[in-house]
Amino acid sequence: MVDHQSNNTILITGGAGFIGSNFIPYFLDKNPNIKVVNLDVLTYAGDLGNLKEVEKHPNYTFIKGDICDNLLVKHLFEEYNITGVINFAAESHVDNSINSPRQFIKTNIEGTFNLLENARIFWNGKNNKFHHISTDEVYGSLGENGFFTEESNYQPNSPYSASKASSDFLVRSYYHTYGMTVVTSNCSNNYGPKQHDEKLIPTIIRSAINGIKIPIYGNGKNIRDWLFVNDHCTGINSIYHKGKAGETYLLGGNNEYDNLTIATKICEVLDLKIPKKMGSYKNQIELVEDRLGHDFRYAIDASKVSKELSWKANESFDSGLEKTVDWYLNKYQL
Ligand SMILES: NC(=O)c1ccc[n+]([C@@H]2O[C@H](COP(=O)([O-])OP(=O)(O)OC[C@H]3O[C@@H](n4cnc5c(N)ncnc54)[C@H](O)[C@@H]3O)[C@@H](O)[C@H]2O)c1
Repeated sequence: MVDHQSNNTILITGGAGFIGSNFIPYFLDKNPNIKVVNLDVLTYAGDLGNLKEVEKHPNYTFIKGDICDNLLVKHLFEEYNITGVINFAAESHVDNSINSPRQFIKTNIEGTFNLLENARIFWNGKNNKFHHISTDEVYGSLGENGFFTEESNYQPNSPYSASKASSDFLVRSYYHTYGMTVVTSNCSNNYGPKQHDEKLIPTIIRSAINGIKIPIYGNGKNIRDWLFVNDHCTGINSIYHKGKAGETYLLGGNNEYDNLTIATKICEVLDLKIPKKMGSYKNQIELVEDRLGHDFRYAIDASKVSKELSWKANESFDSGLEKTVDWYLNKYQL
């Protein structure tokens, strides 16, 4: 349990989600003088089971609650004397945003606004950091060539990316209007342990081992850059501590693959680890009707964060994928 009124306590939101639950143990380990209050409402995507290793950590407290709840957020700032924020909390699944966008607008836009506004009022001009976690999807879709940079135009195409873009603009406005010390990081697709089953890589692994079709949207040629979640965590830690106020930093893994290649690679790992009696898991891959408004390609030029903060992604895609597969096989007790 965090001591009340400790002089360096940060509020991490959405810490029970995929990236947050990888980040919190790493952050507590790297920053023994900083206490963490994790505010998470525990939607279907939040899982406290992924935070078992820090449950009893002396610098860690969990609060179940909604980032949109003004009174609760105000109370937490005052009660714990919050001196920094890292905002992971979001509705994060693009498919869900297409089917039911309302909650994306509420959490991603109104929730971020509520955090910013409480930080502004409580900090009252103090130089405390507000770090907003965002996505490369705000930049829209690339063609065959080129990369997103911090100068790329915002062109969000899904309700998810539009809601994240809106929240990024709110964060930006709190720097330009109120002089608040804000930073935003926009990263590419994360992969690794603890990701919710609904996402692409866990879906491929689960479908393969359950002997059912491995569904891949459209012609399977849509390309994403993949960032191992541990590399994302080191990037966030650097940006939280060293990022300049008002700046945006792009984080990427330099691993561009199309979805068919991802599915094929995972099947090859599974073929070695738990071979089928006959044939390859690859035979289960099936193309299915494409997602609406499916962006063709995302790719990131991460040279700014590399030059200014000496960050780079360390994990190779093959070793990261193997670690990910191992984690799910362990989860499914295989
Ligand atoms: N996963 C990726 O590949 C990826 C890529 C780029 C950016 N991001 C961004 O990183 C952040 C974290 O992503 P993730 O993959 O860990 O998401 P996730 O869906 O796994 O986790 C989101 C967490 O936020 C919590 N949450 C949702 N609504 C809330 C609310 N109103 N109040 C408090 N908590 C709430 C959920 O319970 C969950 O624990 C998000 O902001 C997302 O947009 C993710």
